[in-house]
Amino acid sequence: MSERILIVDFGSQVTQLIARRVREAGVYCEIHPFQKVTEESIAAFGPKGVILSGGPASVTEEDSPRAPQGLFAMGLPVLGICYGQQTMVTQLGGLVEGSDHREFGRAYVTVSGDCALFTGVWAPGAREQVWMSHGDRVTRLPEGFQAVGTSEGAPFAAIADEAKKFYAVQFHPEVVHTPHGAQLLANFVHGVCGCKGDWTMAAFRDQAVAAIRKQVGKGRVICGLSGGVDSSVAAALIHEAVGDQLTCVFVDHGLLRMGERDQVEEVFGRRFNTRLVTRDASDLFLEKLEGETDPEKKRKTIGATFIDVFEEEAKKIGGAEFLAQGTLYPDVIESVSFTGGPSVTIKSHHNVGGLPARMKMKLVEPLRELFKDEVRALGRELGLPDEMVGRHPFPGPGLAIRIPGQPITREKLDILKKADAIYLEEIRNAGLYDTIWQAFCVLLPVRTVGVMGDGRSYDYACALRAVTSTDGMTADFYPFDMAFLARVANRIINEVRGINRVTYDVTSKPPGTIEWE
Ligand code: XMP
Repeated sequence: MSERILIVDFGSQVTQLIARRVREAGVYCEIHPFQKVTEESIAAFGPKGVILSGGPASVTEEDSPRAPQGLFAMGLPVLGICYGQQTMVTQLGGLVEGSDHREFGRAYVTVSGDCALFTGVWAPGAREQVWMSHGDRVTRLPEGFQAVGTSEGAPFAAIADEAKKFYAVQFHPEVVHTPHGAQLLANFVHGVCGCKGDWTMAAFRDQAVAAIRKQVGKGRVICGLSGGVDSSVAAALIHEAVGDQLTCVFVDHGLLRMGERDQVEEVFGRRFNTRLVTRDASDLFLEKLEGETDPEKKRKTIGATFIDVFEEEAKKIGGAEFLAQGTLYPDVIESVSFTGGPSVTIKSHHNVGGLPARMKMKLVEPLRELFKDEVRALGRELGLPDEMVGRHPFPGPGLAIRIPGQPITREKLDILKKADAIYLEEIRNAGLYDTIWQAFCVLLPVRTVGVMGDGRSYDYACALRAVTSTDGMTADFYPFDMAFLARVANRIINEVRGINRVTYDVTSKPPGTIEWE
C-alpha cells in the first residue's frame, strides 16, 4: 500500500486542490468529509499525516464542525488550513475571534520564524505573497505553538508546534495565488510526515493491473469506448490486465468529429489489438433526432438511444458480468453540503451513467482514485497517443448540441465537421491546443448573404468558440489575436462549402455556458 495522507474536508471550495498538490508531490491522499472522520476511521486509514481543510463555517458558532479530538493525541503530524487552523487552535486550547479586518484575496505574510514547512522556500524576514479568505482569526495560541508568519489581518498567519509536528496557516497554500504554496505542502508531506513519494503512475499501473485481475478473475468485461481520455485509459489498463476477457464497444452515433472513429479503431483495434466492436448507429440516431430542436429533448433522446444500442451490442457479445467505467476521483469524493437544497438543472449531461443499473452488471472502475491529470499521465505510461490523452473534453451528445435551434441533418453535420477540423488544425499549428480547455465550431441557424467571386452566396454562418478553464465550471473566452481569427475564417469560408460567414464568441461562463446548448 502506498504511503498516504488524509485530508479532512470542512467544505472549502478548494479542498480538491489540496489533494492535487499532495499527489503532485508524489504522495497518495484521500479527502474524507468531516462528518465521517473518527479516531477509529483515521487509524484504519493509516495516514502518515493529516491535513484539515478550510470551510465556510465559523468556529465561534455553536455546533460548528470539529476534527475528532483524539486526532491530536495520535502522534500524527497535522496541518490546519484556514478553518482547519481555527478549529485546531480552538480544540487545542487557543482562541479564535471574529474580526473587523477581513482579508480576501492577495495578502503578504512576513516570515517571523523558522519551521519545517518553510525549509528551502521561505526564510525569516522575507515578505511572501499568499491567498487569504477569512473573517475570523486566531488571537491566542495554544500552549506549545509559536507564530512563524504574520500578516496585516492575521497576527498568527502561520503557526507551529514543531515538537508535536502540528502546523497551521490562515492562508491557502493549495491555490496558485500562493506562489510557493505547493512547496509548503510538499515540505509537510515529505519533510514533516516523512513520505518518500511512492505515488507514481508507473506504480499505480502495477497495483491497478493486479486489482483488476483479482476483481475480474476469469470473468468477461465490456467497456464502452467514446474516444475520450477516461474511457480510453480505462480500456487500455483493463486490456493490459485481462487481455481478451475485455471487449470494447464503440457506438458511432454519427455526431462525432472528423477522424474520431478512425482514431479509436486504429489505436484499440490495430495497435493494442483489443477485441473491438464498432457499431455504426448514425442512421438510427439521426432518425430519432429528426426535426428535434429542443436542447433538452435532444440530450435525452441521444442518452436513451445510446443505452439501447449499447445494451443490444452487449447482449450480442453475451456472457459479460462486468462493465468498465472511466469514473474519476472528483466524481467519487463525497461533498460536504451545508445548504443541502436541490440545485437547478442547467443541462442534463449525457454519459453512460444510466447503464449499470439497467444492465445489472458489476462495475470495474480502475480510475476511481485518480484526478484527470493523473489519468493523462497514466495514459501516456500505457502508451496511448498524445492526441488521445491530451484531447479536449467532448460532450456525450456530440455535434448535436453544436447545431443549435435547427433540425440536425447529415448535410449540416458534414459542414460542421469540416469547419471544426480546420479550426482545430489551425489551433494546433499555432501551438495553442494545450493552453485552451476546449475549442469548437457551432453551426448557426441563420443563412447570410455574401459575395464570392462574382456571385451571390446565401449560406450558413458559423461561430468559433474557445475557452480556458480549469474544471469546466467557469470559463473565459480565449483572446486570440485578430490575425489568427482572420486566418481561420478565411480558410473555413474558402474550404467549406455551405459556410460564408464566421463569428467569434466572446462570452465567458458564467453568464454563458461553454456549449451553446
Ligand atoms: P457547459 O456547456 O455546461 O459544459 O458549460 C461544461 C462542460 O461539460 C461538457 N458537456 C457535456 N459533457 N455530456 C458530457 O459528457 C454532456 O451532455 C455535456 N454537456 C456539456 C462541455 O463540453 C464542457 O466541457
